[in-house]
Parts: sequence; structure tokens; C-alpha cells
Amino acid sequence: MRVKVQVLLLLPFLVAFELGSCANPPPGQFKSIFNFGNSLSDTGNYLAVGAPAFPFIGQLPYGQTFFNRATGRASDGRLIIDFIAESLGLPFLPPYLKLVEGPFVKTGVDFAVFGATALDAKFFVDRNLGPLLITTDSLSVQLGWFKKWKSSICTTKWECDDYFKTSLFVVGEIGGNDYNVPLLFTSGSSLEQVRSFVPAVIEAIINATSALIEEGAVNLLVPGNLPIGCIPAYLTAYQGSNQTTINPRTGCMDAFNAFSQYHNRLLIRALYRLRKKYPHTRIMYADFYGASIRFYNMPQFFGKGFFLSLNIIKNDTALTMIYAISTSGFSRESLLTACCGGGGGPFNFNPNRVCGAPGSTVCKETTTHVSWDGVHLTDAAYRYMAKGVINGPFTFPPLWFPIL
Ligand SMILES: *[C@@H]1O[C@H](CO)[C@@H](O)[C@H](O)[C@H]1NC(C)=O
Ligand SMILES: *[C@@H]1O[C@H](CO)[C@@H](O)[C@H](O)[C@H]1NC(C)=O
Ligand SMILES: *[C@@H]1O[C@H](CO)[C@@H](O)[C@H](O)[C@H]1NC(C)=O
Repeated sequence: MRVKVQVLLLLPFLVAFELGSCANPPPGQFKSIFNFGNSLSDTGNYLAVGAPAFPFIGQLPYGQTFFNRATGRASDGRLIIDFIAESLGLPFLPPYLKLVEGPFVKTGVDFAVFGATALDAKFFVDRNLGPLLITTDSLSVQLGWFKKWKSSICTTKWECDDYFKTSLFVVGEIGGNDYNVPLLFTSGSSLEQVRSFVPAVIEAIINATSALIEEGAVNLLVPGNLPIGCIPAYLTAYQGSNQTTINPRTGCMDAFNAFSQYHNRLLIRALYRLRKKYPHTRIMYADFYGASIRFYNMPQFFGKGFFLSLNIIKNDTALTMIYAISTSGFSRESLLTACCGGGGGPFNFNPNRVCGAPGSTVCKETTTHVSWDGVHLTDAAYRYMAKGVINGPFTFPPLWFPIL
């Protein structure tokens, strides 16, 4: 077939753009945030107990990009929960375990713990996986902390309800570690076996979400799991394994991404039922999968760059094709490699020489990488994900709504 291609306009305009730089919603919608989860949103709880299984989060290069010091966050900078707090005009959430002796904080508290599972330790102990747990501070333990903290801030039901009606409760991401324990911290479990954990994990998340509603929460954001088939630690552990095939477009492992989507499907269904049960609440699902799979599908759209617009005439139909040329976005070559790590493989992830360990190195430009340390994401990646969740299409129903 003959296709007549006519370049009508070459660079009619150069537009410097930054994806998702739409206006932030007005601050003041929520006056406080309470967060539950794992290392994806731990702002310092695990470090407060000494970070025994992963002391490196207490040292640079963790924190090097934004805080210029290690705060206990498992990233080079901010986490999604930090960007949510920023967008609301609220301070970063202090970790609960440091708050006990510290100042009283009314604008929010973080109960998330690095390594935390949705299910209680007993579930893993019963399956001989107990010794692999990083922490026993599971979701229900974090809920217990919240109840204790709550009694110091309000006493009567009326007083608590009045306070919590302007609070945002974020439950997750949580559940990722329930799968890391059998799939990543040990070999010998198959994806099929671990699939049987998913309904219990979802039940634990729903139990905690319901319990928070019973405590007075009305605005709840519940994120799903990330595409674990794109995570360097997983890619390293399963390279050459017969459990998976590599997707030629993204370079990620299809079977593991399908696993994440299975978890997310069950979560979405369970949240639907929860909304019916508690019609007075606003229960939002945050699609972390969708917000991050974009990086692997079209890395060129993330970062500062230029639009190149081409008008192509095919038959008599004019097609406008817009190319984005990224100057400092994620690079295709570094999409699946950890920025900080101990080398020794195609993904710069070495479980015996993790990020921060002697001999590990840090990439020159952290903003070109999605993965910070092979498991957790960079400040740059979390920023894009947060923008997609806060302003964009990745929260349902949307996070922002008019105050009635
Ligand atoms: C969820 O709550 C129900 C009712 O309290 C309980 O029976 C069940 O064991 C809980 N499930 C999990 C996974 O925590
Ligand atoms: C994958 O390999 C393991 C042993 O290496 C074997 O037991 C298993 O049956 C294989 N699975 C498939 C689907 O081929
Ligand atoms: C485009 O042109 C080709 C032949 O030149 C023709 O076969 C085709 O049907 C046309 N397509 C459209 C959409 O008009």
C-alpha cells in the first residue's frame, strides 16, 4: 500500500512541557491525613525502631535527592504520601513511633512500617514463613496504634466524628510484602501457590478499612499493588525462570504483572461492596498499577522535553502525530535497572550487596530512573504517580470533589 507522507510542519512550535503540571486543587479540602501501609509510605517508623533488617534506610544515599539526609523513607526523596500532603498544604506526616515522645500533631500521623504485611504474622508462621518477616507490625497492629492515638485527640463520638470528617485516611499500598515474603525472600513458592494468599490479603485490607470507618473515617483512599513484574528485584530473582515470559514491549514479566492485576481486581470488587455497606463514606481506589505501568509503556512522556508535531497525509486524511522528545525523562535503558545497587546483573540488583551497602553505587541522574534501590521507586517516579493519583485519572472516584 502506497502511503503518501508529507511533512507539512516541522517544529511549528516547541513547547517545553512537564507532564501533569495542571493546577493543584485548593488546599484545605482535608485538614489531616492518617496513613497505614509499608515501605511505600513509611516516613520513619521502621527507622525509629532501628531498622534492624535494613539499616541502610537510615543512611545516605537514602534521602539524598530531597531531604539531603536519611529520614527512614525507602527512596532518594519523597514518597507518594508526601506529595499528597504537599498538595493539600499539609506538613509531611510524622511517623507515629517518633510521635509518642514528640509534639502533639493534629494534621496527620503516619502509621506505616517498612516491611509490613496486610496479614498478621500468624498467617506466615503457620506456613513456615515466619522467620522471613521483616516486621510483625502488620496492618492490624497499625490499627491498634491508631486507636491508642485517637484516645489522646478526641473522647466523645461526636468530637471524634467531627474531627475525622475532614480527614483523609490512606490504607496502603499494603499487601505487596505478603507476596514478597514467599516470592522474593525465599525461593520455592510458585506464583500459583501464592495466588491462594490473595483473598486473605484483600480481607485483611477490607477489615482494616471497615474498622477505620467504624472509628469515624469517612474519606478513605485505598491503593492497589504495583506491577511487580517490572521490579528489578523480581526480574533478578526470576530471570531465566520458567515461571514467566518477558513482555517485549515493556521488558516486564507478564505473569507477575497479571498477579498484581489479580490482587487489584479483587480489591476493587471488595471496595465496591464496602461502598454499598457504608453509603455515607467516600471510598476511593488509587490505581498505583496504572499510574506506574505508564513509565514502561511510554517512558518518553515523563520528564522535561519537547513536542514535535508532524502532519501526515494518508490518502486524503490528515493525521497529526505528536512525538515527545524527552531530554531528561526516564530513559528506556534505565527503566528496569535500579539507580542504587550492588551491580552484578542486568538490573543492578544484588541481594547480597543492596543499595547503601559497601561497594554499592548510585546512578548519576536519579530522575532518569524509575527504581531507586531495586524494590522501591525514586522521588521522580513517585512524583509522577502522585500527580496521576491526585490530579489525574488514577483515583476512582476522584480524590478532589466540591465541598457540599
Ligand atoms: C476479618 O474480620 C473477620 C470478622 O472480624 C474475621 O473473622 C477475619 O478473620 C478477619 N480476616 C482477616 C484476614 O483478618
Ligand atoms: C519449572 O521448573 C521447575 C523445576 O525447575 C519444575 O518443577 C516445574 O514443573 C516447571 N514448570 C513449568 C510450568 O514448566
Ligand atoms: C487509501 O488508499 C488505498 C489505495 O491507495 C485504498 O486501498 C484504501 O482503501 C484507502 N483508504 C482509505 C481509508 O480511504
